[in-house]
Amino acid sequence: MIGVMFPLIREILAMPGDSRELRVRGWVRTKRDMKNLVFVELNDGSCLSGIQCTFDTAAFPDLTETLALLGTGGSAEITGKLVPSPGRGQAVEIAASEVLPAGGAPGEEKDGTAPYPLQKKRHSLEVLRELPHLRGRTNTLGAVMRVRSRLSFAVHQFFQSRGYQYLHTPVITGNDAEGAGALFRVTTLDPRQGGSHAGTGDYGKDFFGRETFLTVSGQLEAETYAAALSRVYTFGPAFRAENSNTARHLAEFWMIEPETAFFRLPDNMVLAEDFLKFCLTSALENCREDLEFFDYRIEQGLIDTLQSVAESTFTHMTYTGAVAELEKAGGFEYRPYWGCDLQSEHEKFLTEKLIKGPVIVTDYPKEIKAFYMKMNGDGRTVRAMDVLVPRLGEIIGGSEREENLAALESRMGELGIDTDHYSWYLDLRRYGTVPHAGFGLGFERLVQYVTGMANIRDVIPYPRAAGQLY
Ligand code: 4AD
Ligand code: MG
Repeated sequence: MIGVMFPLIREILAMPGDSRELRVRGWVRTKRDMKNLVFVELNDGSCLSGIQCTFDTAAFPDLTETLALLGTGGSAEITGKLVPSPGRGQAVEIAASEVLPAGGAPGEEKDGTAPYPLQKKRHSLEVLRELPHLRGRTNTLGAVMRVRSRLSFAVHQFFQSRGYQYLHTPVITGNDAEGAGALFRVTTLDPRQGGSHAGTGDYGKDFFGRETFLTVSGQLEAETYAAALSRVYTFGPAFRAENSNTARHLAEFWMIEPETAFFRLPDNMVLAEDFLKFCLTSALENCREDLEFFDYRIEQGLIDTLQSVAESTFTHMTYTGAVAELEKAGGFEYRPYWGCDLQSEHEKFLTEKLIKGPVIVTDYPKEIKAFYMKMNGDGRTVRAMDVLVPRLGEIIGGSEREENLAALESRMGELGIDTDHYSWYLDLRRYGTVPHAGFGLGFERLVQYVTGMANIRDVIPYPRAAGQLY
């Protein structure tokens, strides 16, 4: 126990059943009556398990009325002795002597209010998505959010211990870092007030006096600070107005973007691999109970897979090599050819059939990658890297950056990008330019990978996707 904090159920479950008197607080998962005994399972979200509180109503007859008010979803503070549990599944339980019901949650007998929606029966993940404010109280979502929290911590541990500075890049920006055009506009002009600039192209009256968006990536700003602090990483939200209704895309997601001065592509690949493996190891070591739940309920063999990936060496493959393998294999809905964007079925083949594990694909055609990537000597490919994993496909995308001013200007020219607009970015190449590289990890995809959850909407507290704002 620290300071004024009372112990959480996670801590209490680790204590010996030595009849110490204590109080547990939480929400009722289940209540069962058996003759003179009432069993209340209380969960506080600190771990998957709840604690069983057993009331002997013969010994404490005046509790009967209070207990009758307690039902699934209600909250309570229960006092009693921590004793060894005779029941299966738990080492200790509370021999309860007092209960303070905090908040009721009406059950089937309605008292005018709607019954608590998460009654004992299991709910599908789809149904739970309609209840984002309550679904954190279920086993699955509770476990997801604990793993998510632990992985966030692991991200900071990994980079901080390697000399990286945590950088907060802006959420509102004037540029499209990826050049993919999937931008959300930021404006204070209300079309209903006739203040729209629609059709005029005049942003002068808008808040910033120019066109602004929600960021799709903090990379360009991170590059500027890598050229000042050597090693930086971002960990913040990114927004993409992609109308792709898939199980691995969100309109608002979290991304981790390290950027390292004096790094070339091979260094970046090592960093990405070490980083992923560190995250997996951290989850395996610190989220055992939750991972066992996912292994049992969501994705069989999950723990073995995570363990073996954490100990493996990732396979490397060039894009050209990957396409040759895909052409050789054949049988795809979308026929692979040199120059095509790898489709999800292609990524699946490479990771699940060919390699049976993560693979880092490098040196993509310049046409299918962003403007800032460093050109290879062949003039056709860029020093890009994507880390692909089974089940999900791309989990990381990154590259070495073009640090040569003339080369970058010429590539921007080819793509019709206004160099005046990016003069600050080009300044990095004008003043003390250095080779540098970085990547972006989609945090929700990492959480999906670690938990086995099939849909990205179930690994973020409040998912935002096209047409869906819960
Ligand atoms: O490959 P992306 O677009 O790369 C970048 O944004 C670079 N600026 C990164 C860098 O080099 N610093 O996105 C990086 C990762 C993807 O691999 C994917 O995991 C995730 O971000 N991602 C998404 N995750 C959820 N929903 C979306 N709509 C996502 N788009 C990308
Ligand atoms: Mg990508």
